Amino acid sequence: MEARYPSESLTILTDLVLPGETNPLNNLFGGELLARMDRAAGIAAGRHSRRIVVTASVNHVAFNKAIPLGSVVTVQAKVSRAFKSSMEVVIDVWIEDRQTGDKTPANEAIYTFVAVNERGAPVSVPPITPQTELEQERYDAALRRKQLSLVLAGKMKPDDATELKALFV
Ligand SMILES: CC(C)(COP(=O)(O)OP(=O)(O)OC[C@H]1O[C@@H](n2cnc3c(N)ncnc32)[C@H](O)[C@@H]1OP(=O)(O)O)[C@@H](O)C(=O)NCCC(=O)NCCS
Repeated sequence: MEARYPSESLTILTDLVLPGETNPLNNLFGGELLARMDRAAGIAAGRHSRRIVVTASVNHVAFNKAIPLGSVVTVQAKVSRAFKSSMEVVIDVWIEDRQTGDKTPANEAIYTFVAVNERGAPVSVPPITPQTELEQERYDAALRRKQLSLVLAGKMKPDDATELKALFV
């Protein structure tokens, strides 16, 4: 399969925060943001693989900044690494100032998607070739994140997580 670039999977969703989507502090409800990130990441994984994709794991989420009612929110997702059937997708969330257009980073997340066939069985995805320095950094770190996720899910023995263990020795 021919390799693709991370930029080919780039997915950008921009939307408002409406009253039905907020918590009692009038900030965006966490579950709503998770859903927006899942949608953007799923589209990105689908763009990379051109297959049906399912969310296998939410590896990391950091709600660094509250997002107030009425905000313009941009969710940007890009595949950072492709393995055999799984893909890591990195998501960056920005709040846009309506007056100046300046964008402030608000949250970030990392999801894992798996490409599947019509019966839900995993299928191979194309490899990925990072182009920018940031894409290369994210690509390099993705294997240890995959190993951590598999260890936590009880699908890999800690002893086999060689890339992850190398961080601590
Ligand atoms: C995700 C799913 C397809 C994996 O199926 P599986 O039978 O465990 O298949 P495998 O063990 O062969 O794993 C397939 C790939 O997923 C990866 N994977 C599985 N669980 C993972 C996890 N918790 N974290 C990271 N990667 C994971 C495996 O490492 C493997 O990757 P690779 O092929 O790139 O090496 C299956 O568990 C599933 O359908 N889950 C439900 C998905 C869903 O409905 N999501 C929406 C939630 S409502």
